[in-house]
Amino acid sequence: MKVLVVGSGGREHALCWKLTQSPLLGRLFCAPGNAGITEVADCVPIAADDVAGLVAFAVAEKIGLVVVGPEVPLVAGLADRCHEAGIRVFGPAAAAAALEGSKGFMKDVVARAGVPTAWYGRFRDVDSAKAFIREKGAPIVVKTDGLAAGKGVVVAMTLDEALRAVDDMMGDKVFGSAGDELVIEEFLDGEEASFFALCDGTTAVPLVAAQDHKRVGDGDTGPNTGGMGAYSPAPVFTAELEAEVLRTMVLPTVKAMAEMGRPYTGVLFAGLMIGANGPKLLEYNVRFGDPECQVLMARLKSDLLPVLLAAATGKLGTADPLEWSDETALVVVMAAEGYPGTYRKNTVIGGLHAAGQVPGVTVLHAGTARNAAGEVVATGGRVLGITALGATVAEARDRAYTAVDRLQWPAGFCRRDIAWRAMER
Ligand code: AMP
Ligand code: GLY
Repeated sequence: MKVLVVGSGGREHALCWKLTQSPLLGRLFCAPGNAGITEVADCVPIAADDVAGLVAFAVAEKIGLVVVGPEVPLVAGLADRCHEAGIRVFGPAAAAAALEGSKGFMKDVVARAGVPTAWYGRFRDVDSAKAFIREKGAPIVVKTDGLAAGKGVVVAMTLDEALRAVDDMMGDKVFGSAGDELVIEEFLDGEEASFFALCDGTTAVPLVAAQDHKRVGDGDTGPNTGGMGAYSPAPVFTAELEAEVLRTMVLPTVKAMAEMGRPYTGVLFAGLMIGANGPKLLEYNVRFGDPECQVLMARLKSDLLPVLLAAATGKLGTADPLEWSDETALVVVMAAEGYPGTYRKNTVIGGLHAAGQVPGVTVLHAGTARNAAGEVVATGGRVLGITALGATVAEARDRAYTAVDRLQWPAGFCRRDIAWRAMER
């Protein structure tokens, strides 16, 4: 079977790396991919949000399955256009991708399905948003309804901060039309975890959980990023919690979406806050997490391709159970100096081969390309994901940082404390 993976980050490199291990795979394409992905797939220069270009390529190449990495093309209807063209696709149609594309929609769905989550209000004008904030008090959380590249959330510890967020998002439209509507919700305290399940429209199969590190600096300090590192298993996420999240969140959501005529297929990423009163849902994403996907793929022992196909074709109910390594997988993200602010591009990265020689380590690329001289250069903010498996979290972490120290890339940096919560436990 020919497979097309859409995207260019570490998540997509992890998916491609895992798919090449499938005996069912004929040829693997990735659009647009990166320098690391070219080693395992044929990269085609079509942007991940060029829906028409991707569908035309899939039709011309008779692609057997399109696997969509990022949320933007899903929200824009890539899966719908694939269905219309008779191409099988792993990822939700736009009507279901609204679970990530509209936070207000998501909150309405889960509230109606009885999923444990923060209380909330939806607002289309500044005055009523501010009145709600004054009534509820701080701490409180202000979110843009629409996609804002992961930046449209302000966790306001004071009333002033919350009111200012309303002015920025809705008054000044700093995130454009994403701020036409706001969701204002209860501040939840606890420990965050990411849980993943595959869905086929009517049922769901659990994957495993991971924890990531969203802040840029050691000790969880500094601005938010897309994620600076992750590990799985997440010791906070016990088997009991998994069963509870599946029963009280994932399955009721899949049922509610089907009843609304918006069947959910693909991977459902539940962002959880695990507090004193049990787990609560922070958000859904309609894709794998990045860098969580890197550690999930490192731990998955089963063939990935048949289960993605089963999800895409409504056949998860008869799919073989998935097998996972008991080892810990950990990924350290290497970012370009300056990220998540402005950073330099096209700095040369050396030592990649030596890093990949450390036992248990796989070097996954995110923002990389090759220059005219054939050297690997950094092209994005998050650039590499040094992924390691180990018998313990300490071993995985030592292996990953041993590999990091073999890189020659002065313009890059990483956090030095990935998995500190798991190490403390
Ligand atoms: P989101 O894009 O909804 O995942 O929000 C980004 C981050 O904001 C989350 O990973 C949390 O750290 C934080 N966050 C979002 N919603 C809440 C909430 N209701 N209470 C506390 N923190 C939150
Ligand atoms: N690492 C968090 C995300 O992918 O949204």
